[in-house]
Amino acid sequence: MEWTKEQRYRSMDDVTDEEIQGLARLVDQCPWRQTFHIQPVTGLLNDPNGFAYFNGEYHLFYQWFPLGPVHGLKHWYHTKSKDLVHWENVGLAIEPSNEFDSHGAYSGSAIEHNGKLFLLYTGNTRDENWNRHPYQCLAVMDEDGKVTKLDAPVIANVPEGYTEHFRDPKVWKAGDEFYTVIGAQRENETGCVVFYRSHNLRDWQFAGEMKTELGEDFGYMWECPDYFELDGQGVFVFSPQGLEPEGDFYQNIYQSGYVVGRSLDLETGELSHGAFHELDRGFDFYAPQTTVDAQGRRILVGWMGLPEIDYPTDKNGWAHCLTLPRELSVRDGKLIQEPVAELELLRGEKVEGSGVLANDYLPLEGFEGEVYELNVEFSGSSAAEFGVELRVGEGEKTVIKYDAVAKKVVFDRTHSGQAFAEEYGTVRKCSLEAETISFRIFVDASSVEVFVNDGEEVFTGRIFPGKNSTGIRIFAHGGETNVKAVKWDMEK
Ligand code: FRU
Repeated sequence: MEWTKEQRYRSMDDVTDEEIQGLARLVDQCPWRQTFHIQPVTGLLNDPNGFAYFNGEYHLFYQWFPLGPVHGLKHWYHTKSKDLVHWENVGLAIEPSNEFDSHGAYSGSAIEHNGKLFLLYTGNTRDENWNRHPYQCLAVMDEDGKVTKLDAPVIANVPEGYTEHFRDPKVWKAGDEFYTVIGAQRENETGCVVFYRSHNLRDWQFAGEMKTELGEDFGYMWECPDYFELDGQGVFVFSPQGLEPEGDFYQNIYQSGYVVGRSLDLETGELSHGAFHELDRGFDFYAPQTTVDAQGRRILVGWMGLPEIDYPTDKNGWAHCLTLPRELSVRDGKLIQEPVAELELLRGEKVEGSGVLANDYLPLEGFEGEVYELNVEFSGSSAAEFGVELRVGEGEKTVIKYDAVAKKVVFDRTHSGQAFAEEYGTVRKCSLEAETISFRIFVDASSVEVFVNDGEEVFTGRIFPGKNSTGIRIFAHGGETNVKAVKWDMEK
């Protein structure tokens, strides 16, 4: 169904409770509702926003269009958690309501200041000719979770030299000063990031463009920038649009990645850094955001989805979820991403299996399911390839394997179930050389997240298998390998 502008930009004030209940009933009938991921009650979720540890809890907001699985009038939806794994739906946090955010409360971030949580976000507006005019707006959440918007934007103009694609402020504090990076497009239609500084989060001074070493033309727009320091290095994360596929790289419609280098020079904007790396080598990952928690951990959450792609849940009136939280560290100029330790709290019943496997499947007892964590380690291998098949059923399987000849990890969803986004291919690959290969795999009703070799690489993908496709098989071809496998059911 094509959605009209009127349908996409309807105010929630005009929507009745019955209508919302009707939408919720349609969503509830969906066979692919997730069980341990943050997902919208109805409608479409996209970017994680305002991720922060505040007042003893983790707060995580997301971009939300409540009325259907399309991009329309965006709100901020609020969720919170004490442990990063059990999340509570709090409700609407920021509603587009005035001339500075009339066409969407777009992405932004949060920072604690004077005992309150300050939410800096982009107010998206459109004029009568449908031209975009972005404003950077501020809302303040108090200890009771009450959110109050400021009457006027804190950054009202796009600086000279940049187009109206100017959004997604990510704020941080260095010394006594606040900084924000903002995703931007230069007038020559190349992507970049600018930054601002402020003493009080209300008055912002333009500080120029961040000077990276990525060249003048690295995509046409950079969305959702994030800058932080970790393990003594400067890390710049962003989501560039417009990179062409290159071998196994940049296979999705849009990318998300990072560079690691020296700390950003806050006077000159200079950032010297190493190569650009994609954060996730799978299919469905975009617009991540990080925060630092009370223990000093740098934690990242991404949108498990991409714009401009139809998903099988659309017909049930909802789309997308957030990824599991990942703890970051830096090793040899790359980010290591590990699932946060608290995920172990979700572990239920456990089964184990091990053996030496040659040209066969490992005999495994009790290995099956729809929702689980599965850890498999392959060592001492002479096999040409080995791996795991999961959500196996009639004509269906999702394959995670290591091709020891090409030295690549492979995630194959060609036969995962209901097909979608096939124009972007159904296989993702990533080079990796190691003696031992381990897969830590989180399987929810319609997603797979694979952490390879303790977070050296991550592959995320939605899959839409049949309910009866619950098989798990571990295999090796063309030689031998030692295998150790452990599986836990996930607490519902
Ligand atoms: C990224 C993005 C952001 C924007 C938001 C709108 O997915 O396009 O740049 O703020 O989504 O929902």
